[in-house]
Amino acid sequence: MSKYILALDQGTTSSRAILFNHEGHVHGCAQQEFRQIFSHPGWVEHDPDDIWQSQIDVARQVMQECGAAASDVAAIGITNQRETTVVWDRATGAAIGNAIVWQDRRTAGICDALREAGHAELFQRKTGLVLDAYFSGTKVKWLLDNVPGARARAERGELAFGTVDSWLISKLCGEHVTDTSNASRTLMFNIHTLAWDDELLALLDIPRSMLPRVVASSEVVGHTHAALFGQPLPIAGIAGDQQAATFGQACMRSGMAKNTYGTGCFMLMNTGADAITSHNNLVTTVGWTSGNGGRADTTYMLEGSVFMAGAIVQWLRDGLGIIQSSAEVEALAASVPDTDGVVFVPAFAGLGAPHWDAYARGTIVGMTRGTTKAHIARAALASIAYQTVDILSAMQNDSAIQLEELRVDGGASRNDLLMQFQADVLGVPVIRPVVTETTALGAAYLAGIAVGFWRSQQEVAAQWRMERRFEPNMGNDERAQRLRQWHRAVERSRAWVE
Ligand code: G3P
Repeated sequence: MSKYILALDQGTTSSRAILFNHEGHVHGCAQQEFRQIFSHPGWVEHDPDDIWQSQIDVARQVMQECGAAASDVAAIGITNQRETTVVWDRATGAAIGNAIVWQDRRTAGICDALREAGHAELFQRKTGLVLDAYFSGTKVKWLLDNVPGARARAERGELAFGTVDSWLISKLCGEHVTDTSNASRTLMFNIHTLAWDDELLALLDIPRSMLPRVVASSEVVGHTHAALFGQPLPIAGIAGDQQAATFGQACMRSGMAKNTYGTGCFMLMNTGADAITSHNNLVTTVGWTSGNGGRADTTYMLEGSVFMAGAIVQWLRDGLGIIQSSAEVEALAASVPDTDGVVFVPAFAGLGAPHWDAYARGTIVGMTRGTTKAHIARAALASIAYQTVDILSAMQNDSAIQLEELRVDGGASRNDLLMQFQADVLGVPVIRPVVTETTALGAAYLAGIAVGFWRSQQEVAAQWRMERRFEPNMGNDERAQRLRQWHRAVERSRAWVE
């Protein structure tokens, strides 16, 4: 009888592998950071081989450190940074260039042109998405137009496109697949019919032959090459990391929402079988597809995507050098009672929802001669919370649901100062679960359910446990005044790049 599910969590800055036991607890974890490539302003790339190598290394490492044999593992679940785009040669398996990362802004002009030609409404209606450089479609087009010979090779059927899940699975088992949640982030996938859309492909000038086969998020899609783990293991779950986290947070019912504080910050609200069209600049996305993979088995979400959250702390560490390790930010921020009027808008990669301004850039306003690094650190943390407030109000307007609580996870959710401030400025209690590895856990659950390791969604939902609840503790006037100041600062960061 197998004891574990192996979750592979391929994130923006690191690859992780986690073994979960039957109780949904972490049995072992291995993690490796990998190279971020910033070759031009506004560009962000990864080497696809770094992605693969770091991921397979940590998978083997966690098995070895835990003394787990392949026969102890019932299945593998995969979850990944979404939208990041890889194109590779089908025959050799070699990528044709670096992966273009979701944060990369180089295709903003392509999006502008499509919008000016009047196609935004069509893309939103079919894909649920906003025409923004964030999503994969324009990134694929850019690679075909800019890598010498790529378009001709693609037209001959020699090239494959995939988000990171597809790339890893092609390495692990040779299949070219993606699940509905990842497909729903590409601008090429009709979320209502759950199929690639020829009209959108024509507008983006992308040959259909490049696209992966779309599968459910919870089904066996192949078995790993025997040489990788000593024996073939079933790959039984796939989901984009934010959708996986929503599953891992047991937000299985309509109206439940979670916010993950990762590189960026992503709030997703389960809207059940309804793909609600946003009128407040959020996106509609597939949460997951279970069972037979049809529309009836698909759960939809409203999502607000914020591009910079935990990455701000990384920037304070690596860019500004005012802390030595990310963990130090809480103490530095807590060393002052407030930001002393400093407001930080972290639009380093433009602004995502609800502003969608690819030309906004990072801005710090309100500094005086009394401003210290502690104020800047505190303002940086506050910006994460303010961005979340903007998303939640858009979401409540779209869904007409007043959220009773917000479940949180991800690295920065362990920061008590930030979580208390988050509850204060939201005016809604913030709930942190015992297991904050919810992204990997969600992928493990999807895989485990597919192979019978767990019986049902209800069974895994019952494993969710609260660790701490942060109650809002700020007066309405103060909240309103702070948000007013935040919005003034956001206006100053907008449309900066000419
Ligand atoms: O949409 C991008 C998102 O999937 C990235 O997640 O956890 O790598 O910041 P993360």
